[in-house]
Amino acid sequence: MISKPQIEVCLSPALLHKLDLTGKIVVIIDIFRATSTIVTALDNGAKAVVPTASVAECIHLGKTTPNSVTAGERNGMIASGLKYGNSPLTYSKSFIEGKTLLLTTTNGTRLLKMIENSAGILIGAFMNLSALSSYIQAQGKDLVLACAAWKDKVNLEDALFAGAVIHQLLPHFELYDDSSRMVHDAYQFSLQQGSVFEYLKKCTHYHRLAGYGLEEDLKYATQLNTHPVVPYYNGKEILLIGN
Ligand code: MLT
Repeated sequence: MISKPQIEVCLSPALLHKLDLTGKIVVIIDIFRATSTIVTALDNGAKAVVPTASVAECIHLGKTTPNSVTAGERNGMIASGLKYGNSPLTYSKSFIEGKTLLLTTTNGTRLLKMIENSAGILIGAFMNLSALSSYIQAQGKDLVLACAAWKDKVNLEDALFAGAVIHQLLPHFELYDDSSRMVHDAYQFSLQQGSVFEYLKKCTHYHRLAGYGLEEDLKYATQLNTHPVVPYYNGKEILLIGN
């Protein structure tokens, strides 16, 4: 009998070294807000998104990359020295189409640059849940759902999205670890609580960002399938599959 591909969940970058990524597809998850911003910007026509490890690198690249936008946050607020932040609502079609978005964030872009030896790196958000899940299913490879978390502490929104992907992929995949079972159970429980947005009102980063007046970001980032695209990271920049 052909064995099914397996799913693992890495709840924090601090646990990444415990996983073997060889031959596996890795999905980067940072719902509030890096991967939601990346999915939005690319679907709205950004030429590419270039994740940078630091604000200094972002600023330097901005000086040498034509038609680019330097953006990012630290602790949820626009990072000093950058022109734009990490709100997906900033990256409308009229603003970002044809431009290269140079982005640095507290957790999301940091995790992205930690991934080595995988079979491919994809970007996941509630807004591309179905498109992402269909693409993953078609590859038939083992999968690691990697949560950006918050400064290595597990967060609810990224774990919940991992559970949502699992919910889409079962029964075509098998669950490999307890983290996968935990996040899938959490997602199924959240379905009984009304919307994902309502359920995530209890999470810490929701309160941090809402405290900055960014509740619209949170509503936007919890919409399902509003941007049906599949971004991938080629080691230098993030582009859309099929483009
Ligand atoms: C992160 O990197 O954890 C998030 O993108 C932070 C944020 O945008 O508030």
